[in-house]
Amino acid sequence: MNARNIKNGVMLLGVQDWSRRLFDSLIPLPDGTSYNSYLIPGSEKTALIDTVEPELVETFLSQLQNVPKIDYIVSLHAEQDHSGSIPIILKKYPEAKLICSPKAKPLLMDHLGVLESKIKVVEDGEVLSLGDRSLRFIHTPWVHWPETMSAYLAEEKMLFSCDFMGSHLASTTMFAGKNPAVLEAAKRYYAEIMMPFRQMIKGNMEKVRKLEIEIIAPSHGPLWDFPEIIMSAYEDWISDTVGNKVVIPFISMHGSTAKMVDFLTSELADRKVEVHLFDLAVTDIGKLAMELVDAATVVIGTPTVHVGPHPNVAYAATLANAIKPKLKYAAVIGSYGWATKAVEHITGMIPALKVEVLGAVLCKGDPKPETYEQLRDLAELIATKHSQ
Ligand code: FEO
Repeated sequence: MNARNIKNGVMLLGVQDWSRRLFDSLIPLPDGTSYNSYLIPGSEKTALIDTVEPELVETFLSQLQNVPKIDYIVSLHAEQDHSGSIPIILKKYPEAKLICSPKAKPLLMDHLGVLESKIKVVEDGEVLSLGDRSLRFIHTPWVHWPETMSAYLAEEKMLFSCDFMGSHLASTTMFAGKNPAVLEAAKRYYAEIMMPFRQMIKGNMEKVRKLEIEIIAPSHGPLWDFPEIIMSAYEDWISDTVGNKVVIPFISMHGSTAKMVDFLTSELADRKVEVHLFDLAVTDIGKLAMELVDAATVVIGTPTVHVGPHPNVAYAATLANAIKPKLKYAAVIGSYGWATKAVEHITGMIPALKVEVLGAVLCKGDPKPETYEQLRDLAELIATKHSQ
């Protein structure tokens, strides 16, 4: 796509990556993504915020064809989807200085081989004048690396937030408007990479709340022209409040665990508890992460494979432990053939989840009447805990 004017000559550059389906060789991107870059001309200096994935740099370079001079290349985040083309851009504009946070400096030198002499670090709150415009840098760590920062263009009331409040979504539409699909993509993105840093993001939100913002311009996905939508959504996601909701990631090899999951789901639904099932044989792991954002309880359903949980369940448990949702309660259900240590194995995989374990319901072979009785008790306990 061509460069586009956002407002008063502030340009949106970058590329839409319609084909990408995995990020970090891990995170599913069902709708692709974009790498947004911003060109901000001032009366004296011109700044470029972030770059693009280096494999797509040709499109980016074509957008810069008629830009004779760049004084500052601002790296808000050293991860390569934004910084990877910096060496190429520095080569095109050898007079440019690279602006970054103190923690980003060694990352840019180590990962990209940028010379120290090219880098100027900026402190939290520092202002860089472009003449009639200026950029104020706000350190916003852990969205999603420790070095990340945002930049505020006061004259246009624009916040450049990089990953923070972004969405993995390729789109020809520049602004998110009130499109719920963009908010869903932003929630998925938050769930997959931001959620472990929920407590730190609270501090970042407090900082940006002090700014007068008309447009939030992230480095992935459409721009937020109704910024309250994404800011209040983030405040909800990072809050300590959970919903009356149970997420059940499960797998079943011969149907016994599936029968238990179905029964528990019905019992929970009868008690007005919202339930989301994810069959790990076929599920989109990103969607599972998204539902964990505000769930109160996770119930892991697994058959036993060689004494432990099914490998897909082990993977989901490890992932849940890494993304640290604000769950309050957990339980394990499932069947086994002759012996099991599945509960012990799963418990050992989720030390980062600060949950109250509500128990386990395991059965040998097919579920028996007493199994269903135990599942009914578990549903009652979950509903009672949620009502508290
Ligand atoms: Fe979009 Fe953390 O990189």
